[in-house]
Amino acid sequence: MTQAASKNTIITIARGDGIGPEIMSATLEILAAAGAKLEFEEIQIGKSVYERGHSSGIEPSSWASLRRTKVFLKAPITTPQGGGFKSLNVTIRKTLGLYANVRPCESFEPFVATKHSGINLVIVRENEEDLYAGIEHRQTDEVVQCLKLISRPGTERIVRYAFEYAKRHGRKFVTCITKDNIMKLTDGLFHKVFDELGAQYPEIKQDHMIVDIGAAKLASDPQRFDVILAPNLYGDILSDIAAEVTGSVGLAGSANVGDEVAMFEAVHGSAPDIAGQNLANPSGLLNAAVLMLVHIGQPEIAATIKNAWLLTLEQGIHTGDIYDETVSKQRVGTKEFAKAVIGNLGQLPQHLPVQAYDSSDTDRPTHAKLERRLPARKETVGVDVFVNWRGDTAEDLAVQLQRANLEHLKLTMITNRGVKVWPGGFPETFRTDHWRGRFSVPEGLSVSHEDIVRLLSRVALEGLDFIKTENLCTFDGEPGFSLGQGQ
Ligand code: NAI
Ligand code: MG
Repeated sequence: MTQAASKNTIITIARGDGIGPEIMSATLEILAAAGAKLEFEEIQIGKSVYERGHSSGIEPSSWASLRRTKVFLKAPITTPQGGGFKSLNVTIRKTLGLYANVRPCESFEPFVATKHSGINLVIVRENEEDLYAGIEHRQTDEVVQCLKLISRPGTERIVRYAFEYAKRHGRKFVTCITKDNIMKLTDGLFHKVFDELGAQYPEIKQDHMIVDIGAAKLASDPQRFDVILAPNLYGDILSDIAAEVTGSVGLAGSANVGDEVAMFEAVHGSAPDIAGQNLANPSGLLNAAVLMLVHIGQPEIAATIKNAWLLTLEQGIHTGDIYDETVSKQRVGTKEFAKAVIGNLGQLPQHLPVQAYDSSDTDRPTHAKLERRLPARKETVGVDVFVNWRGDTAEDLAVQLQRANLEHLKLTMITNRGVKVWPGGFPETFRTDHWRGRFSVPEGLSVSHEDIVRLLSRVALEGLDFIKTENLCTFDGEPGFSLGQGQ
């Protein structure tokens, strides 16, 4: 593998946790047998690194390798749930700026049993923002919060990426999926940027769906989709649905790409339930490796592997996750599946479409870097003051908050968990210890930082436990804040 270093591409690999080592060995064997021109730097990440006391799950020397090679083939890792650990996957994606997560999903009927035939779609998932910002706080005894952050430049680059990807890959239809009927500012921005930039691609058909019906349609009518573009969390959920409806979550690979670095991995996780038993399907990681070979300029070898793999599926040589008596011929383990693929190298599928790749099939961003627009004119017209309070009636809280009023900055609303409970309000509305007082100025006036500081000290003098503030601003005259529920 390591002669003629100049011709080889050095990549970083990690064997990961659970089924990771098994599917990585299978994939590396197939890559070697296919003559992929690669050299490897191996790093340790995941469970063992967390357990050695690195709460990030990765050591500094591993970052150095990733920044040096700029290409990462990664097996799944086990993320400790809850607790003090951050997801290493998210850390790697964000730290290395891998803003686009590209997940092609195809069905292989009649050779892999599936409820739907003719699926050939790709999910382009925004990979850095949204609820994955990882900014969470317990604000009161009873209430925790996770911040959902969507930025305009972050959205512009993923939307641009999706349309350019569609163009390069001859795809005709981009569907944007959000929940902007509820999250009007965050998902609303994502949808708005989609419409704005989409207007520059009149040759590509476009539509938008709300995520609940979008997910339902993906499960019932996946053929209607071509490219799906979604913010981070919906994209994560939709890609497991898409992979699963093609037959198994074990089939799909993905590319996480940024301007400099790219990481290739299976869509699925470390599957601890079947780890170490030679049961796992290595196809997800193998398909990720195929995407990687195209990315690093070895498209012929990528095609050789993909065609051998397709032929193996046609031959009915299937791992347990896709084994089905009606179509499968032989139930095999991870190792035997890899051997079968190796035996088929150089041959083409007989029924499924033969694959060929060239440099235009790349997942690399091909568009110019986007310019930041000039900032809008911002004016502060009020402030939301959140308080941790255990009283019973909003009227009592209103009396205290109103005593904190400044000359022009007056209490206009109180909400509890976002629902308006003052003025007015119903006794039926459930109340926790998480309250918000909204202070606003009459039209034409504005609020200074000093006003806010004065207001807060008056709130504190009332003995109220304020937990945070959010400024209410307008941008070029447009309100940059939502109404209270029921307001
Ligand atoms: P999972 O994807 O690991 O497993 C879900 C189900 O699919 C299990 O029944 C599993 O046996 C099956 N499955 C998954 N991959 C398979 C394969 N290649 N062949 C055959 N069957 C397969 O999801 P789960 O159980 O929710 O997560 C397990 C761990 O993986 C968690 O610690 C999670 O945080 C982590 N994870 C890591 C990811 C990554 O490293 N990129 C992505 C998703 C989850
Ligand atoms: Mg996932």
